[in-house]
Amino acid sequence: MYKILKKDGHAKRAEFTTVHGTVQTPVFMNVGTVAAIKGAVATSDLEQIGTQIELSNTYHLHVRPGDEVVKKLGGLHKFMSWDKPILTDSGGFQVFSLASLRKIKEEGVYFNSHIDGRKIFMGPEESMQIQSNLASTIAMAFDECAPALADKDYVEKSVARTTRWLGRCKAEMQRLNSLPDTINKNQLLFGINQGAIYEDIRIEHAKQISELDLDGYAIGGLAVGETHEDMYRIIEAVTPYLPENKPTYLMGVGTPANILEAVDRGVDFFDCVYPSRNGRHGHLYTNQGKINLFNAKYELDDRPIEEGCQCPACRRYSRAYIRHLLKAKEMLGMRLCVLHNLYFYNTMMTEIRDAIDAGQYQAYKKRKLDGMMSGNV
Ligand code: GUN
Ligand code: ZN
Repeated sequence: MYKILKKDGHAKRAEFTTVHGTVQTPVFMNVGTVAAIKGAVATSDLEQIGTQIELSNTYHLHVRPGDEVVKKLGGLHKFMSWDKPILTDSGGFQVFSLASLRKIKEEGVYFNSHIDGRKIFMGPEESMQIQSNLASTIAMAFDECAPALADKDYVEKSVARTTRWLGRCKAEMQRLNSLPDTINKNQLLFGINQGAIYEDIRIEHAKQISELDLDGYAIGGLAVGETHEDMYRIIEAVTPYLPENKPTYLMGVGTPANILEAVDRGVDFFDCVYPSRNGRHGHLYTNQGKINLFNAKYELDDRPIEEGCQCPACRRYSRAYIRHLLKAKEMLGMRLCVLHNLYFYNTMMTEIRDAIDAGQYQAYKKRKLDGMMSGNV
């Protein structure tokens, strides 16, 4: 159940209650593609850094270890020892970005596994079945994320097929939720808006999927090579046509600035690999801008990554020490950097919620953006 607590302009402060607990929004979902946050981060760490909800991938877990295995072990929550909400992406996007030799047909997608080359078929029913076996809190609809440079004719046909797939996803999810041996019989389903950078296709699609009365709605097909201006324009065009009384999820976005702008346009849920991926490369977020710990100027820097940060890295260790760990290729170096970056994102979301609660979102956004642009590190 989704309940709006406060609005500040278009920014929404809400809570979303599920069988695995309540999520306070706006929220950043921490990405654990294969049921693990990359960088040797455990679920006990997530509890320390303010993670409310974790995201995993249908495609990866289907290929390895197999969704049937996860089901036999009691579902994803039990398997990875995480009892808060989990969202699973449907496999659509990953098939398009990772697998080779894919063929898109009305029934679904034929492709080869990126692990062993094995032939796999995935359509709306298969994706729902896999996500039901994983027993995530929220399942995503099976969609096609058309390439950023696709022409309008292709995008129109692709979106029409994604709409037909959505009808099949909804019917299959209802069927699976009614079966006696389904682990999570309350599994939720979010639809996904597509249409590349064409406002008219996006709006028409948003109207169509809104009629299906799903549990939430995502905006997909963004942050795939278009400009930030195009991204913001599309979010602004689409959100008025998605149900206000349901959560809005912007898939795969983004930088702290992208998140601040999207919240301003009514988005509630986010996910992105940036904090964990950048952390693994020694790139760290601070309120004064990004720093690269490999830079020689940190060799003798005995300050924490960020003064005052309460993350497990900053509470104990210096920039110089973590830099040394990274250069020595010690796993602890990566781990501390990822923990700091995820803490930075999760803390920013707390600040965003507090600012909306206080009716101060515009002032907060400006202050945060100005600080990060200052480069004063
Ligand atoms: N992750 C980022 N973008 C997308 C998208 O368009 N579709 C899906 N399923 N996942 C995504
Ligand atoms: Zn920190």
